[in-house]
Amino acid sequence: MAKFRPWMAALLVSTLPLTKSGMDASLGIDKYFLDKAVQAKKKVVEAESAEGRERADEARKAIESGSAQVPEPRAGGTAVVYEPVDLEELGVTRRQFFNRSILAGSGLGLGAFGIAALAFLWPSAGGGFGGKIVVGSEADAKDAFDNKIPFYNAAAKTYIVAYPKDDLPKAKKVPAYTAPIIAGMEKGYVALYQKCVHLGCRVPWCPSSQWFECPCHGSKYNRVGEKKGGPAPRGLDRFPIEVDGDSVTINTGLVVQGPSIGTNTTGQEAEGPNCV
Ligand code: FES
Repeated sequence: MAKFRPWMAALLVSTLPLTKSGMDASLGIDKYFLDKAVQAKKKVVEAESAEGRERADEARKAIESGSAQVPEPRAGGTAVVYEPVDLEELGVTRRQFFNRSILAGSGLGLGAFGIAALAFLWPSAGGGFGGKIVVGSEADAKDAFDNKIPFYNAAAKTYIVAYPKDDLPKAKKVPAYTAPIIAGMEKGYVALYQKCVHLGCRVPWCPSSQWFECPCHGSKYNRVGEKKGGPAPRGLDRFPIEVDGDSVTINTGLVVQGPSIGTNTTGQEAEGPNCV
């Protein structure tokens, strides 16, 4: 704790009169400026009041002379009953418009894709490959047979060959020869798909051997498409054939797998040199 010093007390007492006079001087300055501000404000108020009175007098005179329009007092308000917004009247908002546009666009795109996919997968009913194709008449087929060649139709990708009626009993024992194939054989025909069952090359007719011989890897099939050699895993695939009057039709929409290796219902051997 600080000790009492007589000289400090004396110094403090001697400065008291000086401090009081300083404070008095400061207060005097503040009062001076305050008075000045009050007087300035009074002048402003007086000026504004005079101007306001002047304007009010002018307005009163104008009203009395009829040159001024007096606004009508507003009628008492009437309560309005709230009605919910009619959505139909409101119409379509921008957000709804965009949402519906996106949905419509997506729907159209999906619909077009679906139709295209269906059209691609649907069996052709208009006579193209994949549907029923009228390939000609029996007379056309018999002309080809008389020349020792198959009756070929490019649209059906098919060779039509004659089937010997004497061999029908053996054919009926072959599981691969299903009812539609046997029906064609009974009419005297076999319709062979031109595609090699090995890897899909088109198999041409070999006039010398009277067989079908594939140039790709050497598979060989006899006249009725039963396998005779090469890497093919079975005989040529085939289609049902229908004869209506003189008209011959191939159903290319139904591919029937060829007979297994070893099937040889006709016993036909090569009738000359092989082409492959
Ligand atoms: S594609 Fe015919 S034998 Fe290979």
